[in-house]
Amino acid sequence: MNEKIAVIAGSHKGLGFEIARRFSHKPDLRVVVTARSLKAANEAREKLRSLGLEADGQQLDIINDESVNSFADWIEATYGQVDILVNNAGVNPYHSKEEGSVLTAKPQILLDTIKTNAAGMLRISQALIPIMKRNGYGRIVNVSTEMSCLNLMLGGHYPAAPSYRASKAVMNALALLMAKE
Ligand SMILES: NC(=O)c1ccc[n+]([C@@H]2O[C@H](COP(=O)([O-])OP(=O)(O)OC[C@H]3O[C@@H](n4cnc5c(N)ncnc54)[C@H](OP(=O)(O)O)[C@@H]3O)[C@@H](O)[C@H]2O)c1
Repeated sequence: MNEKIAVIAGSHKGLGFEIARRFSHKPDLRVVVTARSLKAANEAREKLRSLGLEADGQQLDIINDESVNSFADWIEATYGQVDILVNNAGVNPYHSKEEGSVLTAKPQILLDTIKTNAAGMLRISQALIPIMKRNGYGRIVNVSTEMSCLNLMLGGHYPAAPSYRASKAVMNALALLMAKE
């Protein structure tokens, strides 16, 4: 197969959909839009098709082992390869008033946020990397945030958002460790 397969986690809306839209313009890329529900993934695919762009849609919940494993099986059976993974899926519990300060942040919200933004990113990467390795090619893009930079934590430019910031800092660490290996 000459075209590369690009998977974008969490791409039925927001930045993920925009990444999918832009990738779909590239003739050598086959884009797979994903969402926690198959319906949302198919709707995103149809939205791209209505713009004259080709894409496939598939269900993927990065914190659900069964979903991640089924997705990896589907990718291998459908294309026999996966070349690009964009770890865009993420949550930001900014709406919770406790997130206005690290002194009120709820440990459970911190854990839930890390579960998606860091453990989920790790899980889907672990599921797809073996396919990339078998084919001798792979690129992983992790969508982080400036808010997770340790040297910017003490500045007042951004909201406190302790769980979001900490979860993305964990993601950054995992991204570096994955790059090293
Ligand atoms: N917007 C910004 O200004 C900004 C700045 C820096 C970084 N980022 C990062 O960019 C990424 C996208 O942000 P956004 O603003 O576009 O947010 P968004 O509109 O809320 O999109 C987040 C996407 O992630 C999906 N998602 C959440 N949990 C998931 C899970 N367990 N499995 C699969 N998909 C899941 C969401 O699906 P559901 O709709 O089903 O929840 C949604 O499609 C995030 O990682 C965010 O941290 C955003």
